[in-house]
Amino acid sequence: MDLATVILAAGKGTRMKSKLPKVLHHVCGSSMLSYVLDAALGAGVSRIIVVVGCGAEQVAHEVAGRAQIVHQAEQLGTAHALLQAAPSLSDFNGQLLVLCGDTPLIESGTLVELIQSHRSTGAAATVLTASLEDPSGYGRVVRDNQGSVVKIIEQKDASPEEQQIREVNTGIYCFKTEGLFADLSGLAANNAQGEYYLTDIIEINARRGKGIGAVTLADPLEVKGINDRVQLAEAEGYMRGRILRDLMFSGVTVLDPRRAFVDRKVQVGRDTIIYPDTIIEGDTVIGEDCIIGPGVRLVNAVVGNGVSIQYSVVSESSLEDGCSIGPFSHLRPGNSLGRQVKIGNFSEVKQSVVGDGSKVSHLSYVGDATIGKDVNIGAGTITCNYDGRNKYPTRIDDGVFIGSNTNLVAPVKIGAGSVTGAGSTITKDVPAGSLAVERSKQKIIPGWSSRDKHKKD
Ligand code: UD1
Ligand code: CA
Repeated sequence: MDLATVILAAGKGTRMKSKLPKVLHHVCGSSMLSYVLDAALGAGVSRIIVVVGCGAEQVAHEVAGRAQIVHQAEQLGTAHALLQAAPSLSDFNGQLLVLCGDTPLIESGTLVELIQSHRSTGAAATVLTASLEDPSGYGRVVRDNQGSVVKIIEQKDASPEEQQIREVNTGIYCFKTEGLFADLSGLAANNAQGEYYLTDIIEINARRGKGIGAVTLADPLEVKGINDRVQLAEAEGYMRGRILRDLMFSGVTVLDPRRAFVDRKVQVGRDTIIYPDTIIEGDTVIGEDCIIGPGVRLVNAVVGNGVSIQYSVVSESSLEDGCSIGPFSHLRPGNSLGRQVKIGNFSEVKQSVVGDGSKVSHLSYVGDATIGKDVNIGAGTITCNYDGRNKYPTRIDDGVFIGSNTNLVAPVKIGAGSVTGAGSTITKDVPAGSLAVERSKQKIIPGWSSRDKHKKD
């Protein structure tokens, strides 16, 4: 393979005003850096080096196992950053694709186009450029009368005329490796920012009469560099649109794409309908024919086919086919629900297994419970799983009917087919097939309301 990639990701991203290194900020649930890495992998590059510096450990962790890491101890500029990869590439003499960790919208196809153009012209360097309505902040691409690229000038170093140029440097390039590192180490930092600019390599090669290639993008959105949180939100909006479009083209109905938020790695099956104000995050997988929303947040959930979830939060839980959740339920992490399970109307379920056909329909708390098949949990039932120090399990076997407003004081087991009377506090195991009632007998005091003291006048 004569193609390697270096991703520059050592900068702090001062303009983000954040404790987190810039390239680790998320766009639709994935770090910016992981998008760039995936784009490179998608373009068929196998050898990838990531230059880390600010927040080095965190950034290295993000790409662990997928790229080689080199360190830039001080952030002296993009040229200096690339130079740090030289020792790792001492045995390499092919073409070098250079990417920035802060351009998350870049697509593999564009990189392939750049690489192919670079190979076909044999240029020393090929730069990916774009024409922007508002080029402010970017380096400008300066061309001569023949249209050949002669240099890239940073905004802060550009003359008023140069600032009028709308063609910008995307920060993405292909270089011939031969002589590149020697040139990089010869650069000076005499510019407005006192940094070693990678862009100076373009002017050096142009002066030598080595052709500089340029590929100009039709859709400049793809190469937007993210430097602050306003741009981060713009990238988020663009990526969200791209994800929802892909989902819609694959057979998912999205009622209002402005009010649906789906992370990049989420999978959704055909004929599922996403209602407004729904946020689907992480590695969530949703089957076919589901109704998700309105008002739903799913985080790393695994949802089968024909499931309906409305006005509810579901985290780190799996739901088999035909479940119905909500309105207003909270499935906290660690639940595994069988087929046709119903959790509804202000119920909370945590770290529990619920068997096929069982129902927790109203106002209940179920925690650390193992519930069998066809169990009915009456309204207002509470598993008392916590004594202030430890958590204890509750087991409810197949076909049990838990009466309304039952307290199940864990650890406790309710045997198959048993019934608990409404309002009972169950502290002892209930054998299969029995009725457990724990409450005082009802007293009747006849004529109570006609006694003197209760008379109104
Ligand atoms: C850079 C380009 C500019 C281009 C723009 C595109 C230079 C001098 N300028 O400017 O022409 O229009 O990108 O988005 O190259 N980095 C390091 N180490 C450093 C400095 C930066 O690794 O010492 C990394 C950053 O983490 C970032 C990338 O290089 O991923 C670009 O750095 P940034 O400071 O954002 O450059 P821009 O000012 O945007
Ligand atoms: Ca940038």
